[in-house]
Amino acid sequence: MEIVITETPEIAAILAADIFEHALAAVEAPVLGLATGSTPLATYRELIRRHVECGLSFVNARAFLLDEYVGLPRDHPEAYRRFIAREFTDHIDLPATGLHSPDGAADAITRAANDYEREIVDAGGVDVQILGIGSDGHIGFNEPSSSLGSRTRLTTLTSRTRIDNARFFDDDLDQVPRHSLTQGIGTILEARHIVLLAFGESKARPLAHAVEGPITAMVPASALQLHPHVTVLVDEAAATKLSNADYYRETFEHKPHWQTF
Ligand code: GLP
Repeated sequence: MEIVITETPEIAAILAADIFEHALAAVEAPVLGLATGSTPLATYRELIRRHVECGLSFVNARAFLLDEYVGLPRDHPEAYRRFIAREFTDHIDLPATGLHSPDGAADAITRAANDYEREIVDAGGVDVQILGIGSDGHIGFNEPSSSLGSRTRLTTLTSRTRIDNARFFDDDLDQVPRHSLTQGIGTILEARHIVLLAFGESKARPLAHAVEGPITAMVPASALQLHPHVTVLVDEAAATKLSNADYYRETFEHKPHWQTF
């Protein structure tokens, strides 16, 4: 696990965009794993900028969303597929057929979950997966006590997560769905490279538990410790509870010039 502490979220977003750009150049038909929430937005903005100003192309790529609410109509503005289109994919040259997301509005949810697992496998698996972290340590919508081997399935959101996400629903808790269709922790761990982003004071505690605490289902992000290729990009505020922060800074400062992420 490589942990990089940056002065600002914007610097972390540039590094995350570099990782995506590298995958787009290195892989013939790159498969990008996208996350929603506010944390990855600066990375998406930077990638859009590189597309518009520098010609970075996504034309050969496919993208898979981590999760989707269950209980919202497909055209609800806060449905994650709508969110990612608005914030990112509508502004790049990703082919319209290249965006995949779990179908949270399906009648047969279990079948939709299994279909989504198959779509990811058929695409050859995810090359780079971007992740945020919930204030309770969740990744995707895998809440505490999720099996570390879980696959795409229906999950129930904790009240903490619903309160955190109410800001996207006019601060009206009643509008926040109770369920999701999310890639499981086992599914996420199959991505070849995972980039975890965490910004701000509210992420300091879950981040420290995730990267320095024991591996436990009570902190779903701690499962990332089992993955061979994880890059953690955090700002100073999110790094305040890391006991090994000096070592991470020293490691990055002395990173060999030939070593990529
Ligand atoms: C939601 C998403 C997660 C995201 C989390 C944190 O619950 N399902 O993928 O990581 O929110 O969101 P934010 O980045 O807005 O703090």
